[in-house]
Amino acid sequence: MKLIVTRNYEEASTLAANYMAAQILMKPNCVLGLATGSTPLGIYHHLIKMYQDHRITFRSVSSVNLDEYYQLPPDHPQSYHHYMHSEFFNQIDIPADATHLPNALAEDPAQECRRYDRLIDHLGGIDFQLLGIGANGHIAFNEPSDDIPNGTHLVDLTESTIDANKRFFSSASEVPRKAYTMGIGSILRARKILLIATGTNKAQALQETVCGPVTPRVPASLLQLHGDTTILADREAAQLLDERNFHVN
Ligand code: GLP
Repeated sequence: MKLIVTRNYEEASTLAANYMAAQILMKPNCVLGLATGSTPLGIYHHLIKMYQDHRITFRSVSSVNLDEYYQLPPDHPQSYHHYMHSEFFNQIDIPADATHLPNALAEDPAQECRRYDRLIDHLGGIDFQLLGIGANGHIAFNEPSDDIPNGTHLVDLTESTIDANKRFFSSASEVPRKAYTMGIGSILRARKILLIATGTNKAQALQETVCGPVTPRVPASLLQLHGDTTILADREAAQLLDERNFHVN
């Protein structure tokens, strides 16, 4: 696990966008695993700017998203489908049929999970997985648990995640109680992983991710087992880590 600490959110976003742009330059037809939440917005903003400046193209890229709220229609303003299209896909040249998210409205959830796993396999696996982190250490919607879920599955969201995400909805009661998420196995099979953590409210989770035991009680700690994971954190998120162990960018 490589850790890079930046002065602030903006610097972390710029570096993360550069990593992703380099991935696309190295392999123009790469498969990007994409994340939602407020943290990646700065990255998407920079990537859009690079595209507008003709520095990168997404025309041969495919994408698979980590997760989606169960039964939230794709045109709902808080669906991850809507987020990805309005914040990113509609502003770059990625072909519409090359972007993928779990289908929130699928009639048979078990079948939908199988479809999503097969799709990832069919694309040849994920070359580069972008991750945020929840304040409880979750990645995608893999909540703290005693199990290590392998493939895509439907999860019950924890009260702390519902509480953290209610800021996007008009009230906590509107936050869906379930979500589709890629499993920890799907994430760990990605060839490269970049996790971005910014802000004081991620400090405890980041400390446990980097220095704590490898345990599904802190899902992000399982990334310690992955051979090519980089963590980009700003100083606020890194405040509980020992400064002697990293270089501040
Ligand atoms: C949600 C998403 C995660 C994301 C997390 C943190 O729960 N499913 O993929 O990492 O929120 O979001 P934020 O960046 O808004 O703190």
